[in-house]
Amino acid sequence: MSKGVKPFSRITGLGVGIPENVLTNADLEKIVDTTDDWISSRTGIKERRIMKKGERTSDYCIKAAKEALAEAQLDPELLDAIIIGTISPDMRFPATAIYVQEAIGAKNAAAWDVSATCSGWLYSLFMADTMIAAKRAKNILVIGAEMLTPMVDWTDRATCVLFGDAAGAAVVSEAVDDRGILSVVIGSNGTFADLLYCVGHGTAGYATPSGQENGNRFLRMNGNEVFRHAVRVLERTAKEAVERAGLEPSDIDWLVPHQANTRIIKATAERMNLPMEQVFMNIHKYGNTSTASVPLAIYEARKEGKLLPGQNMLSVVFGGGFTWGGSVIRF
Ligand SMILES: CC(C)(COP(=O)(O)OP(=O)(O)OC[C@H]1O[C@@H](n2cnc3c(N)ncnc32)[C@H](O)[C@@H]1OP(=O)(O)O)[C@@H](O)C(=O)NCCC(=O)NCCS
Repeated sequence: MSKGVKPFSRITGLGVGIPENVLTNADLEKIVDTTDDWISSRTGIKERRIMKKGERTSDYCIKAAKEALAEAQLDPELLDAIIIGTISPDMRFPATAIYVQEAIGAKNAAAWDVSATCSGWLYSLFMADTMIAAKRAKNILVIGAEMLTPMVDWTDRATCVLFGDAAGAAVVSEAVDDRGILSVVIGSNGTFADLLYCVGHGTAGYATPSGQENGNRFLRMNGNEVFRHAVRVLERTAKEAVERAGLEPSDIDWLVPHQANTRIIKATAERMNLPMEQVFMNIHKYGNTSTASVPLAIYEARKEGKLLPGQNMLSVVFGGGFTWGGSVIRF
């Protein structure tokens, strides 16, 4: 019997949807006053993927969903729910998950979106694990998808170099042995809502009808302050997730964290006493893909032969709100 709590659910399939368009740091040097050296050394990012005009978030969710269902060998009609963490939906309503439901033929699933910024996928995973634990569902498709390109201010060098577009999906089903989701913890703190936000088409912009022209549609961030809080909260969340899993930090084989900034990732690993050889990073290829970041990283880590059966993986995320989340998954 392995160490740790008994899981209720497990991931049986993973998939991704990644735009073809690559935007390199050299490309950005032509758009704003920045350098490859600044971006690489301050963030770890070398390039990111960017959606094309005319595409929708659901296009990438559908691609990711089909791949995850194929790996799980699950008939879409057996899905009880589709939950998408996203702050860049196709439309105000209906939810992006509705379009995915229709496209994949998941006619027995309830479908909805979750707004929790970068933590959206982990918030959705929390819901899926809880629903399965309560025996209210057997199979749930959990997607994290972000197409931030339309809400990025391409004249603001402090933010436009950071983000990229992607989607990642996981099929979550009942656990059958001691492998699966050992813990998921989530949290929020509204005190800092002004540090990272986008008014967009929200009611907060109603008083200024010309809001779309005067910049309301753009994401705004105080990166410095966000950074400071992120490091502290991620350490606390990581420790909580490990404890809830019934494990010690030394039982963790892999840290697969939110890919927002290499320096934040290194600080988190250090505080968890994990050497960088046990940390998976793909931020250099994709930048910060917000809620898609963790499922995309798990997908790629597994493709590279990491996350072997029986190994314990810790994921932690932090985002605007603030929101945060952590999870320990045994593969
Ligand atoms: C955004 C971030 C990379 C900025 O790095 P930083 O080391 O804090 O840099 P600062 O914001 O202090 O800026 C330092 C200088 O670089 C400049 N700068 C900012 N962006 C730049 C860019 N793209 N290219 C060149 N210079 C830039 C600033 O204007 C500033 O210049 P000044 O000293 O003359 O005023 C970093 O704060 C970060 O990663 N924050 C967290 C972001 C995050 O995780 N957000 C999402 C949560 S999921």
